[in-house]
Amino acid sequence: MATTSIFIFQALVSLSLCQNPFSITTYSNGTYSLYVNGKEWLKSAPTFFRDSGKLFTAEDGSLKLFYTVHEVGVDKLGNFTTSDYLYWAGKKEMFVSIRQYDHDPNLVVFIQNYTDGASGAKADSFDKIISGFPGFQVQDGPVNRGYLSFGGYMLGDTHKSIGKWGDQTKDIRDGLTGGPLVIFDEEGNTLIISPLSEFMVASNWQDREVGGNIYWGLMGGIDEVPYHYTYMTIVCYAKGINKAFEKWGTALRKLYGSKENSLAQDLTLHRAGYWTDNGAYYYYKTEPQKNYEQTMLDLLNKTVFTFNYFQFDSWWYYKGLAGGVKLWEPRTDVFPHGLGYIYNKTSSLLALHNRYWSADTQYAKQNGGAYNFIVEDTGALPVDQIFWNDLLNKTLTWGLVMYEQDWLNVQFDKIKALKTNLTLGEMWLTQMNEAAKTNDVFIQYCMANPRHALQSLTLSQVTQARVSDDYSPGGEQWRIGVSSMFAYALGLAPSKDTFWTTDVQPGNRYKKSEPYTELNALVATLSTGPYGPSDMAGHIDYRLINRTSIYFGQLMHPSKPATAMDIQIIKHAFESLKMEIWSTYSMNMFKNTSLNWGTILAVETSGNVTLKYKDMDFLTPGVSYLVYDYKDVSSFREFKTSDNLVLPNNCTKSEFCLFHFVPKLEYGNNEIYMLGDVSKWIPASSTRIRSIVYQEADLLINLWGGANEEITIHYVFNGKLKSSTCPIKTTGWNCISMLTGKCVY
Ligand SMILES: *[C@@H]1O[C@H](CO)[C@@H](O)[C@H](O)[C@H]1NC(C)=O
Ligand SMILES: *[C@@H]1O[C@H](CO)[C@@H](O)[C@H](O)[C@H]1NC(C)=O
Ligand SMILES: *[C@@H]1O[C@H](CO)[C@@H](O)[C@H](O)[C@H]1NC(C)=O
Ligand SMILES: *[C@@H]1O[C@H](CO)[C@@H](O)[C@H](O)[C@H]1NC(C)=O
Ligand SMILES: *[C@@H]1O[C@H](CO)[C@@H](O)[C@H](O)[C@H]1NC(C)=O
Ligand SMILES: *[C@@H]1O[C@H](CO)[C@@H](O)[C@H](O)[C@H]1NC(C)=O
Ligand SMILES: *[C@@H]1O[C@H](CO)[C@@H](O)[C@H](O)[C@H]1NC(C)=O
Ligand SMILES: *[C@@H]1O[C@H](CO)[C@@H](O)[C@H](O)[C@H]1NC(C)=O
Ligand SMILES: *[C@@H]1O[C@H](CO)[C@@H](O)[C@H](O)[C@H]1NC(C)=O
Ligand SMILES: *[C@@H]1O[C@H](CO)[C@@H](O)[C@H](O)[C@H]1NC(C)=O
Ligand SMILES: *[C@@H]1O[C@H](CO)[C@@H](O)[C@H](O)[C@H]1NC(C)=O
Repeated sequence: MATTSIFIFQALVSLSLCQNPFSITTYSNGTYSLYVNGKEWLKSAPTFFRDSGKLFTAEDGSLKLFYTVHEVGVDKLGNFTTSDYLYWAGKKEMFVSIRQYDHDPNLVVFIQNYTDGASGAKADSFDKIISGFPGFQVQDGPVNRGYLSFGGYMLGDTHKSIGKWGDQTKDIRDGLTGGPLVIFDEEGNTLIISPLSEFMVASNWQDREVGGNIYWGLMGGIDEVPYHYTYMTIVCYAKGINKAFEKWGTALRKLYGSKENSLAQDLTLHRAGYWTDNGAYYYYKTEPQKNYEQTMLDLLNKTVFTFNYFQFDSWWYYKGLAGGVKLWEPRTDVFPHGLGYIYNKTSSLLALHNRYWSADTQYAKQNGGAYNFIVEDTGALPVDQIFWNDLLNKTLTWGLVMYEQDWLNVQFDKIKALKTNLTLGEMWLTQMNEAAKTNDVFIQYCMANPRHALQSLTLSQVTQARVSDDYSPGGEQWRIGVSSMFAYALGLAPSKDTFWTTDVQPGNRYKKSEPYTELNALVATLSTGPYGPSDMAGHIDYRLINRTSIYFGQLMHPSKPATAMDIQIIKHAFESLKMEIWSTYSMNMFKNTSLNWGTILAVETSGNVTLKYKDMDFLTPGVSYLVYDYKDVSSFREFKTSDNLVLPNNCTKSEFCLFHFVPKLEYGNNEIYMLGDVSKWIPASSTRIRSIVYQEADLLINLWGGANEEITIHYVFNGKLKSSTCPIKTTGWNCISMLTGKCVY
């Protein structure tokens, strides 16, 4: 490497403690390497910047390293020490920096700072990038590694790739639809690399022409970059793939804020709803001789105690050119009396779908409307805050609680300005969010690329996102364990989409049936996202819905979305074995500490999969458990830290395997395991089990439910399986004594 460095520093050795499994070494010549357990996992690739129509790269010396220095500072993640590099790209200064944090040696942040800006920077493709830092060589190394690369839409689920990492890895998902990259070994040591800022304009790019290096930087369509523009990439290490996602998500949320309050307030995440989107019985279909208004009113009338809101899909508004939205108002042939009429008549709340704007949208000034839009041949994009405010304000009289912004990837791809402008993408999504906040509605993202998903970190109302392709009866879109890790890390509830609760739906437009109703209903429950059946009237299986839902459609969820266990991803990457093995937990407090009631779902297991206690990262460490098969409570057995769970090799979509883990509650000399309401998928959900009260005289379980509902709680008392049944009082409460088995009220 030819440099004209004025100051050459000695090698800048890592600051990390030697015991720490992860470290980074940075050198004064601008190279750096990431190490895990002392082995070099990733070696840097040459930094580059584009400016004035030229490529400046450290590879051939056209990007010249000017000086190298260490600094200290503090940002929202904590105190850090940097390795800084100042480069010359022709006449422009480019500054890059690597931050290592004092409190956490497992986080590294890479910064690009356009000290002098850039002009004429664009690449020859939107999918390439105009700056590359960090960059890593993709090659075999001293340790076998696998990778998971998110890409495509539905939060990067549709085109994700999983495989072995090395010289031959050519399918890292990149460009406009690329997403976070996860690299791991067979022991679960894991690195996650993703943008940390400027989410709508940051991309990764694999240089498949030259060696296959992978880089992070600004997307290829950007031509002008202002002075001091800064972009950041994060690298995060943890032992365990799920643990790494949690750690990465914690860092992102520390920077951009938590959304726990929004998720708690979003009704569609806590109540069952009825859906009419693709895959639903009433998707572009009504009852014979009825319009949508009549079809929906009849359905609303019959299901009012089960479904708290209705989702109306793209069939209800006016479309224009290329299928875009012309006017987001109820069509007179669909809802002749409007949506306010339905709300007044039924008080049923709404979730309303929207898609991309058509080039002939009536809202645009170009088409005689009242608002500023960018209008291109292929579509349109609103640019006024007031447009979004007005759009959502009118829905207050419609009972709107959730706005579903679908086709996010297509909206992005259709508008060239979104692919060339540094600020427009963020502005578009921020304006939508601000209007939602003003009007008190929450947002679901659908067909989101990873960039939209990451941007949602800054958007308080975006509480949920679809994480797999559209539902199709009998189809495979329930496989959301991997994309749910991504959603969960960002603080989003993953949505599995609608499903049927009965197998056969006469006259359905898909000419299909649904043999896996139970699996679909279970997955919707485990997701913590919306639970939205879509059956034909008269074909709703309330027995199945009741396994998730209690009084007035309240959902019995676990405390976090179920995610693919590490072993699933590792077996997929290293052995090409495709199984679904997911876990989640319900958290309840006992004696002021939180205990996790665990759940494992297994589908399509093959061979003998043995799970050790140490694989069960969702259990409360060090606690003794018992485990039982959901089909047979009496199958319970102790599960100590030295025990294994061997998953049967016959778990299928129709006969899936589901195990529950129950922590031991010590009460005097008694050992109590509270299984919960085993008639439900998630027996110890905190919707039902409101608290466990430890008193000197008794151990009480507070229960929540519908008036007069009879609730049976199972528990194991000093080795014996017992159950007690209590009626819920009109207040919604009752309480069971674990010592006497009696109802308190
Ligand atoms: C940079 O410096 C390191 C450490 O001295 C050395 O191993 C490496 O070969 C150098 N790389 C280049 C591109 O000069
Ligand atoms: C950063 O370091 C300073 C000085 O040592 C200390 O006072 C401060 O609390 C640290 N800040 C953080 C966020 O750790
Ligand atoms: C970018 O670099 C300039 C010049 O060193 C500095 O003033 C500015 O604070 C940097 N920006 C960020 C966000 O670090
Ligand atoms: C709904 O009810 C409100 C309050 O009674 C009334 O002002 C409004 O006109 C009604 N809207 C429709 C569309 O019937
Ligand atoms: C439901 O149906 C009953 C009987 O047809 C009718 O009296 C009632 O008004 C309907 N309720 C709604 C909300 O449509
Ligand atoms: C919504 O529109 C109504 C009627 O035009 C107006 O009075 C109200 O202030 C608006 N609300 C918001 C939050 O913009
Ligand atoms: C990017 O979009 C914003 C918002 O519409 C606009 O103000 C700005 O001028 C655009 N920038 C460029 C370089 O076109
Ligand atoms: C569902 O549960 C409710 C109580 O929450 C009960 O009234 C109803 O009978 C149950 N329905 C079925 C079909 O089990
Ligand atoms: C739980 O914490 C509260 C308040 O911190 C305390 O008063 C109570 O004694 C604690 N209970 C137990 C069982 O430790
Ligand atoms: C699974 O384990 C059982 C008992 O250890 C053994 O008999 C059987 O051969 C194993 N099957 C496979 C496919 O490894
Ligand atoms: C699956 O295998 C287990 C034993 O490993 C057996 O008990 C169970 O009945 C089998 N289930 C089915 C549906 O064949």
